Amino acid sequence: MTVPILRRLDALRSLTRRWSLSGDTIGVVPTMGALHDGHLSLVAAAKAACDRVIVTIFVNPKQFNNPADLANYPRTEDADARKLERFEVDALWVPDADQMYPARFATTVSVAGLTDVMEGAFRPGHFEGVATVVTKLFTQTSATDAFFGEKDYQQLLVVRRMATDLDLPVTVHGCPTIREIDGLAMSSRNLLLSDRARTTAPTLHEEMESIASGLRDGLAFDPLRAAAAARLTRAGFTGVDYLDLRAQDDLSSLPAPARPARLFAAAWLAGVRLIDNIAVRD
Ligand code: PAF
Repeated sequence: MTVPILRRLDALRSLTRRWSLSGDTIGVVPTMGALHDGHLSLVAAAKAACDRVIVTIFVNPKQFNNPADLANYPRTEDADARKLERFEVDALWVPDADQMYPARFATTVSVAGLTDVMEGAFRPGHFEGVATVVTKLFTQTSATDAFFGEKDYQQLLVVRRMATDLDLPVTVHGCPTIREIDGLAMSSRNLLLSDRARTTAPTLHEEMESIASGLRDGLAFDPLRAAAAARLTRAGFTGVDYLDLRAQDDLSSLPAPARPARLFAAAWLAGVRLIDNIAVRD
């Protein structure tokens, strides 16, 4: 079934108003397009849980701290719409830029605390951009449920915090990271990797698994981290922004997985920044 594509708010509202009046739940899958199986797993989760499903595609300029990253971000709308056909989603919301940020737009949603570390520290303004656009996507679509991947685990926590703090009537669902067969976490940015870099990229996940297994064997985190970072550099990674052990609930830094913890990483390979995270202790 061809997916109805909507670009203007009045058209979206006339649909969602009808659905809300009939008491339908509305599941939203916010994306920036370049859809892969990770996104499609979110769509499947939304279809299973909700009466209506809206997928959104908006490459949100406010969450890019680097203009080159924004310019290079893959844009594949026709292919994305085709990938959604078999899911029979109810609408694809691809707002025109002026529908999201009209002239004189002046509001920012900012979540304190959780955003001080990792992506928030390395990408100034990123989470303000995310929180602002996600708030708008929730209200534009009248979402009752929203689906986010654990691949962007910090984003998931930030969105949950924001929805709770602002009393947004949306249940935020976190869904497991989907990986390529060689362990690389699926990401739209993987499209930017050269063939050579693509063969090296799974090393990040391998090194994270090796740290996690060392931690489970009772080894100390700091030497495990230093050895993994050195091996990543030898494999061809040009920088490791962070390789952190943090609490699963509030992202506080941990010396050892004494409570539910995840390992988080961001590293550069051939000009592409890869991020990943895995549970060390659930
Ligand atoms: O995860 C993403 O693709 C984006 O950060 C999101 C949630 C769609 C907001 O632009």
